[in-house]
Amino acid sequence: MMATTTPIIVDVPLGDRAYQAHVGPGLLDLLGDKLAPLGLRKRCVVITDSTVGPLYGKRALTSLDTAGYKATLLTVPAGEASKSLSQAESLCRQMIEHGCDRHAFVVALGGGVIGDLAGFVAGTFYRGVPYVQIPTTIVSQVDSSVGGKTGVNMPEGKNLIGVFHQPRLVLADTETLDSLPEREFREGFAEVIKHAAIRDADMVPMIEAVLKDRHANLPELMARNIAIKSKVVVEDEYETTGTRALLNFGHTIGHGIEAAAGYGQLLHGEAISLGLIAAARLSCVFSDLDDMGKATIVSLLEAFHLPTAIPESITDDIILDYLSRDKKFEEGHIRFVLLRELGDAFVSNAVTLDAIKASIIALRK
Ligand SMILES: NC(=O)c1ccc[n+]([C@@H]2O[C@H](COP(=O)([O-])OP(=O)(O)OC[C@H]3O[C@@H](n4cnc5c(N)ncnc54)[C@H](O)[C@@H]3O)[C@@H](O)[C@H]2O)c1
Ligand SMILES: [Zn+2]
Repeated sequence: MMATTTPIIVDVPLGDRAYQAHVGPGLLDLLGDKLAPLGLRKRCVVITDSTVGPLYGKRALTSLDTAGYKATLLTVPAGEASKSLSQAESLCRQMIEHGCDRHAFVVALGGGVIGDLAGFVAGTFYRGVPYVQIPTTIVSQVDSSVGGKTGVNMPEGKNLIGVFHQPRLVLADTETLDSLPEREFREGFAEVIKHAAIRDADMVPMIEAVLKDRHANLPELMARNIAIKSKVVVEDEYETTGTRALLNFGHTIGHGIEAAAGYGQLLHGEAISLGLIAAARLSCVFSDLDDMGKATIVSLLEAFHLPTAIPESITDDIILDYLSRDKKFEEGHIRFVLLRELGDAFVSNAVTLDAIKASIIALRK
């Protein structure tokens, strides 16, 4: 397979850590060529998972081999459990065994789990080696592959160990999205709809177009989301100015529901769908979002068959219990991302735990 169209290029202008994201069908086969301008040495590993490896590993290796790179494929089991310190240690040891040193580089081939894990390995191996992201899910193409947040989970919580380490290049091959199971494909659109809500209301018709024809504008849509993520990251690379917090829209309540359901019951994007609706409702109460704005968010989520009501098995009490364990709630108030209107988000201190409770109860209807 060869690329049929010119890729769309999105810049991530981070000074001496600047890089590009190339977006389009068939980019996987161009991996070796795309690396040439980066001036990397020849030794590398491709880190992937047990689902993505058999689908795309060979094409990545062939492209690297043709361009003169010496690549080894390292595969971890698919799933969130692989985002662990022990898996990172195992990968580092395999890299050493295969003769990698500080001149080697890493290619992350897979979804967000692989991007976070391989990015963490790259960020810490010999105190940091370069890496390239090849995201193969909607979530990883629109969100996790750009921005340099890498890390692994602890038994005590998600993403507790990590480093900021920007990739040298992101290759988002939109053709790889064809093999995503339908539920995973739809799940990713919760984050796309979130991006529209916080930064880009004009993206709504593009999102609707995917419903009619998946292939019509996926490269344009993925690129537009990467551009949003890039802008946010450039404004707040290390999450210090507050802009990056806007990406948490829908995530405070969404995470509570995800945890209350028991990890694995609801996919992350499905829980976030509920969190987005609750946050939109709170935006109507505590800010200026109008009913039309809220209805647009709800109907987009519905159109992607994402949940708009909490499953009965998850009681309000369990969700509130998870939420009130959140340290941010100690004073009864929380820093909560709201919308003034579609496309315009800000961090508010006005939202109370009682209002959050009401918004969760409203998700029963
Ligand atoms: N670093 C960040 O800024 C950031 C942002 C958002 C999410 N994340 C992290 O990303 C992870 C979630 O990412 P995800 O949703 O991509 O999950 P994932 O990587 O687990 O992928 C989901 C499933 O799809 C499979 N898969 C991946 N690509 C496929 C393809 N093209 N065809 C068929 N199957 C494929 C995977 O093997 C896996 O089973 C979480 O760990 C989350 O914490 C990180
Ligand atoms: Zn999310």
